[in-house]
Order: sequence, then structure tokens, then C-alpha cells
Amino acid sequence: MSPQGHLHVTVFPNDRVAARALARRLADAIAEQPSLVLGLATGRTPIRLYHELSHLVSRGQADLSQVRTFNLDEFVGLDGSHPGSYRQFMQTHLFGPAGIPAEHIHFLNGAAANLEEECDRYEAAIADAGGIDIQILGIGTNGHIGFNEPARELCARTHRVALKASTRHSNAGLFGGDEAAVPKEALSMGMATILRAKSIVLLATGKSKVSCVAQAVQGPVTTRMPASFLQLHRDVELVLDEAAAKDVRDSERSQSIG
Ligand code: F6R
Repeated sequence: MSPQGHLHVTVFPNDRVAARALARRLADAIAEQPSLVLGLATGRTPIRLYHELSHLVSRGQADLSQVRTFNLDEFVGLDGSHPGSYRQFMQTHLFGPAGIPAEHIHFLNGAAANLEEECDRYEAAIADAGGIDIQILGIGTNGHIGFNEPARELCARTHRVALKASTRHSNAGLFGGDEAAVPKEALSMGMATILRAKSIVLLATGKSKVSCVAQAVQGPVTTRMPASFLQLHRDVELVLDEAAAKDVRDSERSQSIG
């Protein structure tokens, strides 16, 4: 979606304005290409975006009925009907309200009997769909994207991953606040799976993201900060609010709005 073809940083005054602007742009992209393949993230950050998109649908200003979706990740051990699963999160916040038909929704099954085969199936399904057109990402405070956690090495393909304590902590809300109930592992698209998307939009808001956003944008490309690899993609946009963008140098900002 970035007009310049490189890491593009757009800063909005607050998270509400950012979500609204991004929802409108996604709606426009979908109007141009109704069966667009969308890569989607869960977490607190995109909730507003999903609500804005659903709102556009309910007002007849967007139509997501032909869009195909692939979510980034799912907890190991949970099938899509588990209330703590990311599949249910998406049903509540986007798939249900925006009327996306079940047959257009692709999800990793964390309860599959053979998780390696499940990861291969997912890679093949993405390829069969013609690849991801627009991948929406969030960012963990430690720089993870999807569940590609900082490490000495990162995985290229969809894989099984052990979750960091900090990641389990921030997901406790899905399990009634009980951190011990958060699964210890997840399945996640890999770095190459994400970087193969034709265009990528990373949404980050709030002051807890100041440091990881600044490092991702202007730090070295390193496996210790997985989001820094976005610098290597030819069409990435970071959609930030002022709070998250605080330490992004003016020279790195492509656009400040409001
Ligand atoms: C979840 C995902 C994660 C989140 C990240 C930020 O599908 O991909 O990388 O985007 O953990 O989460 P929030 O938005 O809750 O800060």
C-alpha cells in the first residue's frame, strides 16, 4: 500500500484516527480487488481497526464478503472453537461483524494431530490462494511479529514456537486473566511467510511500543528484533500514533497527519 516502495512511516495523532484511516484504505483496496488475500493479526492493537472496518461494512461502505483471510498464528492445543483461541477472537472482532464467510477464512489449527503437517498445509494454502496481498501486523514490545520471537535464529516457514513469558503475560486476558492458562506454545507464520506478502502494514499504537518501533525502523536488522527485517521488504508501511512514534526520528517519518 506504500506509494514509495520502501519502509514508509505514517504518524497519526492518536490510535482512533490511525485505525479509521487504515480501515478506509483497506476498504478502498478491497473495493478495487474484492477477493483480496488479507493476512491478519490478533492482539489489542487491531481491535479498533477491525471495529472500524466492520462499521464501514454495516454502513454499506465496505464489502468483505469475497475477501480471503489468513491469520498469523494460533495457540497450540486449542481448536478454533475454544474461547481463548485466536480464531474465536477474530470471529468476535472481525469475521462475524464484517460478514466474512467461513469458507474464506483460513486459520492454523493448534489442535491438529500432526502440527508439522498442519504448518505445511498452511504454507500450501497461502500459495494456493496466490500469496498474501496485504499483511496486517502488530508488534510485540520485544519486537516480535506474528510469534517470531527474538532469538539467535528465526524460522522462515510456518512453525511451532515456544512463547516467551512476556508474550504469555500479555495474552492472559484471553484466558480470564490467568497467565498459567495461556498455552506455552503456538503455531506461527515464519519470517519468510510474512515477508513474501506483496505489501505489509504494521500498526503500532501507545507508549509501550516506543522502543520496539524505534528499533524496528532505525536500528540494525537483527534476529534480536524480528520486526527490523521489515526494512528489507519493498512495500512496508508503519501506521503509528504519536505515542508509539515518539522516538522515531523526523527523518524517518514519511508523513505526519493532524
Ligand atoms: C498476534 C500477533 C502478535 C501481536 C503482538 C502485539 O496475532 O501477531 O505479534 O501483534 O503481540 O500485540 P498487541 O497488539 O496486543 O500489543
